[in-house]
Amino acid sequence: MTDLPFDLTIRHARISTATDTFEADVGVIDGRIAAIAKGLRPGRQDIDAAGYWLLPGGIDSHCHIEQLSGMGVMCADDFYSGTVSAAFGGTTTIIPFAAQHRGDQIPEVLADYSRRAAEKAVIDYGFHLILADPTEQALQIDLPGAIAQGITSFKIYMTYERMMLTDYQILDVMDCASRHGALVMVHAENNDMIRWLARRLVEGGMTAPKYHGVSHTPIAESEATNRAVALARLMDVPILIVHVASKETVSVINAAQALGLSVHAESCPQYLFLTAEDLDRPGLEGAKYCCSPPPGDAASQEGIWQGFFNGTLQVYSSDHAPYRFDETGKLPRGDQTTFKEMANGVPGIELRLPLLFSEGVMTGRLSIERFVALTSTNHARMYGLHPRKGTIAIGSDADLVLWDPELERVVSYDMLHDNVGYTPYEGKKIRGWPQMVISRGKVVVRDAQLHASPGDGQFIARQTPEPVLRKRLNGDSSSVVRKYFTGGASS
Ligand code: URP
Ligand code: ZN
Ligand code: ZN
Repeated sequence: MTDLPFDLTIRHARISTATDTFEADVGVIDGRIAAIAKGLRPGRQDIDAAGYWLLPGGIDSHCHIEQLSGMGVMCADDFYSGTVSAAFGGTTTIIPFAAQHRGDQIPEVLADYSRRAAEKAVIDYGFHLILADPTEQALQIDLPGAIAQGITSFKIYMTYERMMLTDYQILDVMDCASRHGALVMVHAENNDMIRWLARRLVEGGMTAPKYHGVSHTPIAESEATNRAVALARLMDVPILIVHVASKETVSVINAAQALGLSVHAESCPQYLFLTAEDLDRPGLEGAKYCCSPPPGDAASQEGIWQGFFNGTLQVYSSDHAPYRFDETGKLPRGDQTTFKEMANGVPGIELRLPLLFSEGVMTGRLSIERFVALTSTNHARMYGLHPRKGTIAIGSDADLVLWDPELERVVSYDMLHDNVGYTPYEGKKIRGWPQMVISRGKVVVRDAQLHASPGDGQFIARQTPEPVLRKRLNGDSSSVVRKYFTGGASS
């Protein structure tokens, strides 16, 4: 063990990682964990954690911050309010999106997001690249360049007219990802099914928010997921299906995994804690609950819980998509706004962890170790941050959260730190809250006070995902692409 003085010692902690729970002290030097043992010497800063649980800081690998949506709407949170809100909720690293729109040059997109985040973020961050225009330049030069800069995952859309890729383009992107070891994240919904239904609903005067849920049928999600799996199978490349909403889609993913395919999946608080009934609130209130895919019924919620329990779903992210309940976001045409015109998405970056802690861990449905895996460690492993982030181990960044498991509070928007103006979880009783949040050994939040400044967060260049996730399970016998087009052909 090191003899150097600790900058910070956290004592008497009940520590949980994704695999173990034990009691120990943690010593921090230069922002990294230097010792984990009982009876460590005092640090320059000394924290008594008796009665608290010490967990790795949350990693939110799906959030939209200071991003222009496909519909051209700017998020309500910038890199300051978004990261402050994340930190208050126990998250110490975020991976939001740098979004390419058609015609945009990828290096310029990345430079723009990097500059804005560097000026404002209070916690560490990386980026995924949203890819809407996979030109030859993008595929041959810019994506490999982005990967070399540590942006090792791309999100692609199968819906949204201005963002979606054709199946042919998706194959091109998967081919590029395969060659360079990147991970393709897929927003899987069948665009034509949604478009067909939405048009008829609007023509029939059915324009209220609840019809958003009707047009985004779970059949559109499961069909597109099945297609994404087939495309990935052809290309012999791992994928991750984002924001899984329906029980049927969990089954499709589970079946792919049972075939040995490298198919990963994410779900979010809105699919555990909201339902289609929320979209049917009076007036336009339901707009606050509209996201894509939309929340389903109680059976869908249970399907998502089961997906987390049985490992079909590995990551729990917020998909924080912050749009205000006014003309800048949800209601571009005021009270005349139809469900087709509302910005899609719900906020949740701050309540992501407390909601699951309360409803999962404190109810006994979820072990604390599984909570850590779903909220932190699996994100780090999936997206090339492990072991620097996502665990409590010697050498890892001291990104730590002290949780008070007994603190009970009723959610009200006033207690949150985002810039959205409402929360879909208003009035919900939550037991268990972050009491102190530490980023690279520095206290960021303590006793509900912020102790960080804009620019304290650092860009984290990510590795390509861990080899076990990239494992090509189809093998060269079944992959035509691997056999003939990627160096495997013998003649
Ligand atoms: O409705 C959602 N999920 N909005 C955010 C954008 C996206 O597709 O993730
Ligand atoms: Zn999406
Ligand atoms: Zn999203």
